[in-house]
Amino acid sequence: MLLSIVVPTFNEAPNIEELVRRVAAAVDGAGIDAEIVFVDDSTDATPDVIGEVADRVAAERAADEASPLPIRLLHREHPTGGLGGAVMAGFAAAASDACLVMDGDLQHPPEEIPALWRRFARGDVDVVIASRYAGGGTAEGLADRTRVLVSKGATALTRAMFPIRLKDVSDPMTGFFLVDRRTVDDAQLKPRGFKILLEILARRPMRVAEVPFDFADRHAGESKASVRQGVHFLTQLTALRFGKMSLFAIIGGLGAIANVAIVWALTHLGVDYIVAAVIAAEVTIVGNFLLQERFVFQDMRENASGVWQRFAKSFAFNNAEAVIRIPIVALMVSGGHVSAVVATAITLVLAFFVRFVFHSLVVYAP
Ligand code: GDD
Ligand code: MN
Repeated sequence: MLLSIVVPTFNEAPNIEELVRRVAAAVDGAGIDAEIVFVDDSTDATPDVIGEVADRVAAERAADEASPLPIRLLHREHPTGGLGGAVMAGFAAAASDACLVMDGDLQHPPEEIPALWRRFARGDVDVVIASRYAGGGTAEGLADRTRVLVSKGATALTRAMFPIRLKDVSDPMTGFFLVDRRTVDDAQLKPRGFKILLEILARRPMRVAEVPFDFADRHAGESKASVRQGVHFLTQLTALRFGKMSLFAIIGGLGAIANVAIVWALTHLGVDYIVAAVIAAEVTIVGNFLLQERFVFQDMRENASGVWQRFAKSFAFNNAEAVIRIPIVALMVSGGHVSAVVATAITLVLAFFVRFVFHSLVVYAP
């Protein structure tokens, strides 16, 4: 087996037959010995359709004495990691180290497979990227102006954040590429959401080549891209670049702003200052916890203790911290030569680091 073609699918039933037909024509024409591995998380009839098509193709090819084109189905009952997780599962199941990833909706023309393969077969790169933005490539299939703008903006931002790793990559967000899976560090890689190639490229230096292609219109069905995927993408980008600590800091900062706003609102409603401060502190502690669960430590939750235990630890820590910080500020002001503002600032910064370490090592301990 030369090439494993990994196709993640989520409710793509009407596209399977056409996809397999065009992939078969492309690999036969170029004499590439290949297999197709569908990694399916669908809730519709897609897995049944894949099964039928696989049986039919196997029978037809045996009758014609054509080289086999095994079509395998990996259906995930409990999918993790979305599209990126599906691709990693495909790599693990593939028969060949050379793994080509493409969408199941024919936006990635199968006729380009031989070009990607030929470039890869020269043996001097780890990954060949089919690019919409390299010379000759286009992104016509992006549904509307907004998506074109979002795609271009996100690409520019990403390239700016990884100027060295993405030096030779015009389209780090494409879902159409061919990689030697041995160069993908799956121990480090925690895929989430749509941008699996970006994760692969950002984690370690890779030797890269690009091949231009025309991003086509969807054959049938609907795109699974969404605002939610967009938010995923931004957190992924921040986490990749700066680690979890920056996301933790952003959430902490939002919490501080919310805290002040709540105190302001309550005291204006006539609530006593101390009561207002306590309510604001508790509301922000709970709010921060929920945001951290969702955006910072989401990949550590399943190996950590249960959610109520995590909440109890986080809640206890944050309350203790808030209480302890007051006498420490007082001590610093009375004992040293610092003003109350400076002392407060110093303790807040220190508390931030301690809080981060505590959450990483204790609250979300495996
Ligand atoms: N297994 C699995 N699980 N497959 C999924 C999932 C999932 O959770 N979500 C989406 N897919 C599959 C779809 O069925 C399709 O085959 C492919 O992943 C891409 O999804 P689309 O819904 O067609 O997304 P798109 O066209 O908006 O996004 C494509 O273009 C982007 C660039 O504009 C993808 O190739 C992205 O990776 C790419 O960044
Ligand atoms: Mn698509």
